[in-house]
Amino acid sequence: TDRAYVIDEMISAKAIAARIEALCREIQAEFSGTDKLIVVGLLRGSFVFIADLVRELDLPIEVDFLEASSYGDTMESSREVRILKDLRGAVEGRDVLVVEDIVDTGHTLNHVTRLLASRNPARLKSIALLDKPSRREVDFRADWTGFEIPDEFVVGYGIDYAQRNRNLPFIGKVRFEDAAQSA
Ligand code: PRP
Ligand code: MN
Ligand code: MG
Repeated sequence: TDRAYVIDEMISAKAIAARIEALCREIQAEFSGTDKLIVVGLLRGSFVFIADLVRELDLPIEVDFLEASSYGDTMESSREVRILKDLRGAVEGRDVLVVEDIVDTGHTLNHVTRLLASRNPARLKSIALLDKPSRREVDFRADWTGFEIPDEFVVGYGIDYAQRNRNLPFIGKVRFEDAAQSA
């Protein structure tokens, strides 16, 4: 993590905002008539995406958070998803939308949606801003995806590299200065 790297912009803040507007029109159509949608953000990576998403959603909602971690400070998935913080509220009989920043191997969202499904929500849907289908290890697809991306190490807009760069307003790709280590 102390190797030198630069960050190249991959998806601009403007492109993300435009995509969120389109996604929200689809989510509103799906959940129209709901009395209360519970929007669940997966900490920590989704915190920027969920903030922009809920402000664009014209639906009655509550917001809750769940923390699941598979990566820690490494670049490699542990494939063992830990629930570090559970939801505050019950989801039984409610409409639930799980919000995630990125689906990589699929272990995190697969595990979390199975867990929440076991609590018998009325409807359970998921949305991920980014999807790296080439990295999938379990058969999982979010109901909505912002952007499909190639297998690049991305940061920003909530996504970290060793806990850094979450505050970048765009999605960038990490390029290591050490050529031997870059893809
Ligand atoms: C990252 C990312 C997703 C997950 C995707 O979270 O935010 O939650 O990994 O990877 P997967 O599809 O291979 O499971 P991380 O565990 O790094 O925690 P963080 O959100 O706190 O950064
Ligand atoms: Mn995460
Ligand atoms: Mg992380």
